[in-house]
Amino acid sequence: MTNDTTKGQGIARGLTNYGDPAFSRYLRRSFASSMGYSREMLDRPIVGIAHAASGFNNCHRHFPEMIEAVKRGVLASGGLPVEFPTISLGEVFLTPTSLKFRNLMSMDVEEMVRAQPMDSVVLLGGCDKTVPAQLMGAISAGLPAIQLVAGPMSTGRHKEHRLGACTDCRRFWQQFRAGEIDQQEIDTVERKLASTAGTCAVMGTASTMASLTEAMGMMPAMGAGIPAVSADRLRMAEDTGRIAMGLIGSDLTPARIMTEQAIENAVTVLLALGGSTNAVLHLAAIAGRAGLPLDLRRLNELSDRTPVLVDLKPTGDYYMEDLHYAGGIPAVMRELRDLLHLDARTITGETIGDRIEAAEDWVDRRVIRPASDPIRETGGLVALYGNLAPNGAILKRSAADPKLFEKEARVIVFSSLEDLSQRIDDPDLDVTADDMLVLQNAGPTSGAAMPEAGYLPIPKKLARQGIKDMVRISDARMSGTAYGTIVLHVSPDAASGGPIGLLRSGDRVRLSVKDRSIEVLVGAEELAARREGHTPQRATAERGYAKLYAEEILQAERGCDFGFLVGTPVQTAGD
Ligand code: FES
Repeated sequence: MTNDTTKGQGIARGLTNYGDPAFSRYLRRSFASSMGYSREMLDRPIVGIAHAASGFNNCHRHFPEMIEAVKRGVLASGGLPVEFPTISLGEVFLTPTSLKFRNLMSMDVEEMVRAQPMDSVVLLGGCDKTVPAQLMGAISAGLPAIQLVAGPMSTGRHKEHRLGACTDCRRFWQQFRAGEIDQQEIDTVERKLASTAGTCAVMGTASTMASLTEAMGMMPAMGAGIPAVSADRLRMAEDTGRIAMGLIGSDLTPARIMTEQAIENAVTVLLALGGSTNAVLHLAAIAGRAGLPLDLRRLNELSDRTPVLVDLKPTGDYYMEDLHYAGGIPAVMRELRDLLHLDARTITGETIGDRIEAAEDWVDRRVIRPASDPIRETGGLVALYGNLAPNGAILKRSAADPKLFEKEARVIVFSSLEDLSQRIDDPDLDVTADDMLVLQNAGPTSGAAMPEAGYLPIPKKLARQGIKDMVRISDARMSGTAYGTIVLHVSPDAASGGPIGLLRSGDRVRLSVKDRSIEVLVGAEELAARREGHTPQRATAERGYAKLYAEEILQAERGCDFGFLVGTPVQTAGD
């Protein structure tokens, strides 16, 4: 073994620069020895384990056990596993919203994978933004990588109800707001909603992104849905460690797995799942890192031919653990086989077509419907365009009320989240069930940084009359666990000068899902005049990450990535 390499494998990879490579290697081995490693261990190839465990992330509380299992797999295959923490994004613990920090986490993952000596990497995440951040960072880092996820929470019980975060959180909250249940009962429900480690139990953003990661081939078959608390989850972790060892020296970098075909497969699966609208943003960002576009008009084409097959909350009856036991993503993909790129490669070496062939025959048809008898004939999401959203908007039609799909109505406009919270429950608010609600200045360039606020509450006085849904329009996002006739991601957003910022209460808007359109019925001259006197409220910041965010954030159709992060992956230091 020589002492002068600047490249090579394992601990010798990407040396710290002291101007003397031999000294650098000697010093690194010496310091690594202080951790108690034997010489034999330090000569092994290294599998990094980039994990997002944190006391501020309930979904990841079982990660220590999972990390041990990954290490077993690596050690059994002759490698040295080395875990390292990255930023963690616990969905409900971050202000103003976790999306603001997804790109920061992706930069952390990218730079630490590139800067530290490892030959392949296991990405261990789960909560909503963590998996997209890890995939984005791994594409840019260019090192062979495999994704392992937390797995879903198991469901709890309240009286006769099965409970899963967080669709049932919203259902009970809505009942509380409508006066149907009292404070004591909502307090009881609060304690029971999230009862195990793991990610939200429904087809929210975390479950959707786990499913799409499997569909793109970045994890083994059945990897998305194993419950967090199952022993199978630990076996999957062990297996992941083994596979990560097999990736060392291969050409299976993330950009070679997450190709245009793989991303299109993911979009098709997303549509069939009735998955989270957030996934559209994340897939656009992932595609952007690989130098690929995610065209919303193409999403509409795929949506027109893709049936909704999976009956999970928030749109259906079941939970993520049920999808797993019903046959999982391979069973869903088998139903979609005529719509998929079957020759797309996966991290385990087989193609998507091979995985479909190997899928178990038995499928629980209550949860995964056959393509011949779908839940809906067309996909769960649709992109809308028009003078209100020149660059597009998203509607989750599978979670919406079809009676509201073709509608022209008066709008009630809230200029910000603060305005919304101050006025929405005002008994004197001039609003009827026939109106549309509009929220401005909650998009990516606003100070709110695109929170999941698109699920505007039904005004209390209407909720108490039994109104459950209204058309709601915003430049914000919506939690994957929410439902309703909700137009999201309107682009350009209000704070960057988009037309949604010119709307005024009393204007009329026409929504047509059939025509994929969203139009404000105000003359061009009047809109131009309003623009003259209008100053968009784009957020600014003096320093730090907030400044970087304010200056670099892209619009929704570009995945809200930073402009300077988009593009072709670079090679790692050791290559
Ligand atoms: Fe982590 Fe829902 S809060 S996945």
